[in-house]
Formats: sequence, structure tokens, C-alpha cells
Amino acid sequence: GGIITLDSGYKNTGSCESAITFLDGEKGILRYRGYSIEELAEKADFLEVAFLLIFGELPTQAQRDKFHADIKAQSVVDEDIKKILDAFPKSGHPMGVLSSLTSALTAFNPSSVNVNSEEDMYRAIVKIMGKFPVLVAWTHRKKQGLPLDYGDKNLGYVENVLKMMFRQPNEEYTQSRVLVDALDKLLILHADHEQNCSTSTVRITGSSHAGLFASLSAGISALWGPLHGGANQAVLEMLEAIKADGGDTKKYMAKAKDKDDPFRLMGFGHRVYKNFDPRARIIKKAADEVLEDLGVEDPILDIAKGLEKEALQDPYFVDRKLYPNVDFYSGIIYRAMGIPTDMFTVMFALGRLPGWIAQWREMRLGKEPIGRPRQLYVGATQRSFVEIDKR
Ligand code: CMC
Repeated sequence: GGIITLDSGYKNTGSCESAITFLDGEKGILRYRGYSIEELAEKADFLEVAFLLIFGELPTQAQRDKFHADIKAQSVVDEDIKKILDAFPKSGHPMGVLSSLTSALTAFNPSSVNVNSEEDMYRAIVKIMGKFPVLVAWTHRKKQGLPLDYGDKNLGYVENVLKMMFRQPNEEYTQSRVLVDALDKLLILHADHEQNCSTSTVRITGSSHAGLFASLSAGISALWGPLHGGANQAVLEMLEAIKADGGDTKKYMAKAKDKDDPFRLMGFGHRVYKNFDPRARIIKKAADEVLEDLGVEDPILDIAKGLEKEALQDPYFVDRKLYPNVDFYSGIIYRAMGIPTDMFTVMFALGRLPGWIAQWREMRLGKEPIGRPRQLYVGATQRSFVEIDKR
């Protein structure tokens, strides 16, 4: 074999060629299929962005309508999935539940996707785009002890997600434009981020020709960790802890800088962004707007802003180029929307779904080989077996 270079965490190793997302970490640039994230967050809706990521171009009105109609036609989940959901303890973490239910979908949709058929591929894509929000909403309703519900086919994709999550039995549900627009923006900002941990997991799982739903389930598990998507929950828990501690941000700053303390300032730092995270800038502004529109005053927002200010002036964070990332302010918006803390990462998954699909599709259409990293072996050299009574 050839020479193997070690690159722990793949800091300098490209795993694929991709035409989906462009990212310049030094300049803080993020583009989906060439369009800047700022412009998409401002002008597009989540479904258009999903179409753009997956198929490469912004949809025409007719294409968008068809995409939405096809997704809606697939938004029914087998009744037996409810039984599985029922069997989970209410205290179970929603990410574990979501990953399990996504995997369970494979059992109810067993036919494998023929990736040489555009039609087959498309059917699988609209299927998961239709069923995933139902699983997300049901995961929430189960925790809240609410009856499960399919939402409303007359609503937009994001509107429907909110209705499916929040509608109370025997109550007229009124939709808040502020919430719909805020969630739409958050989902767009989370929709893709090139070869991050969960996306690489989806690609590498799919590279063995495991199915789309199975690959997505693996991606959801990868997203769950606090260094990745789980950071949004961890940020809010951290801000709560600081608040309960009398707002003592200095103490937590000191903990984050202490190399003997495993504590990290959650929502800070990024593998690729070394100047600023463009998503964080948009979300910070949105957090201000949403809280104002909803008339919510949240002391946690002030704590977050105070922490950011301190960190941006602190040599520890400056030297290491640590800036607030996408997750630093997103939880404050989710909270203002009435979404419980342990559902935050589920909302991230809902946003990332089209990115994962796009990356899986690109990988399969590009006929990429199975992902199989090498290693540098550092274990024992050859030795002889010792019988159990002689050890
Ligand atoms: N608080 C304190 N110190 C930090 C932090 C932090 N949040 N992040 C990095 N550092 C330090 C780290 O200790 C190291 O210091 P030193 O050089 O003295 O050993 C240095 O900065 C470089 O960190 P690293 O861990 O080598 O960097 P990485 O690229 O492997 O990790 C990261 C990137 C995002 C996992 C990390 O910054 C982190 O753990 N941040 C907190 C969790 C978080 O907010 N994650 C969400 C990422 S954005 C959402 C997403 O897309 O997933």
C-alpha cells in the first residue's frame, strides 16, 4: 500500500468533490449552489431552498408547486409508527426517538431506491420530505402528552410543521406570521453546511449503498452530540445556569478558559469559521426582531450578548479565533417560539434534512466509492496466545 497520512478529525482532508455548498471560513462566506446565505435567508422560503440544494437550481413556480404537492401527498406515516412512538418512555430524548423513527421508516418502506432512475430517487426524496416533519411534530406531541395529528394540507410546509407541533385539542389554532417567518429563516440557515460531522456520516453510510432513510438516521445520531447540533440545547442550558448563578458570566468565562475544566463556552468556536459565522450574524439580528415582535423579554438574551461581548475582547477567544456560531442565538428564538429545550436539535435536523438528502443524492449519482478511511496502527506487535489460566 501507499503512504498513509494521519489527519485526526479530517482537518485537512477532502472526502469528496461537491457542487452544493461553498464555504470560506476566513472570509465568513456561505453559499448554497452559488447563492449567498444572506440573500436566501432574506428572499427565499425553506421549500425553495430545499429544492435548490437537492436539484441544483431554484425552482420555477410550477416546479415549486409540484414539489410541495408531491411532498404533501407523501405526508402520511404508517399507523404502526404510532405504536412504536407509544412504546418509548416520555422522558426519552427526542433525538433518540427521531433517529429511531426515521430508521423504522425503512421497515414500512422497504423497496430500495434505484439510483439510476430519476423517478425512483425523486419518490424517495419527497417521501422523506413529507414524513419527516410528521415524525418531528409527533416526537414533540408525545412529550407534551398531546394526541398525534397530521396537520393541514392547505398550509405551507413550515406553517404545517408548527401547526402539527402546537395545535391543542378542541382549540382553534391561530398561526403567527412572526413564528412562521422566524422558523423558515432558521431552517434555511441550517439547511446545509458542506462536509460537517452529520453530513459526512450520511454520505459514508450511504456509500455502502445502505438506503436513504437508514443513512439519514445515522446522520441524526451524529447531529445529536453537543459538539455539533446538540450545541443549541447545550447553549440554552448554559445560559440558564448562568442566570441561576446570578448572571455571573465572568465565572463561566474563566471555566471555559481553564484547561483543567472540561467546560466549553457552548455556541462558540467552529472548525471552519475563523473570523465569524455568517449564520450567527443573521440569527442574532433575527433573535432581536422575533423577541420584539412577540413582545417577549428574555433576560437570557442579555446574558448571551454580554457573554459574546466579553469573549470577543478576551485574548483566549481572540487568539483561538473563537466566535459565536449558528447555535449561540438560535435557542433563544426557539424558546421564544415555545419549543422546549430538548427539541432544539430536532429542529436543526428538520432544517438539515434537505442538505443531507442533497449530499446523499450527489454521492450516489457521482458513483462515489465506499467510504473507508485508513489508519496508523499503534497497537501491540505480534504475540502468542496465553491460555486463560496462565494470564
Ligand atoms: N470554549 C472554550 N475553548 C474552546 C472552545 C469553546 N467553545 N472551542 C474551542 N476551544 C479551544 C480549544 O480548547 C482549543 O484550545 P487549545 O488550542 O488551547 O487546546 C482551541 O480552542 C481549538 O479548539 P479545537 O477543539 O481544537 O477545535 P475544533 O475545530 O476541533 O472544534 C468545535 C470545533 C466547534 C467542536 C469547538 O469549537 C467546540 O467544542 N465548540 C463548542 C460546541 C459548539 O458550539 N458546537 C457547535 C458548532 S456549530 C453548529 C454545527 O454546525 O454543528
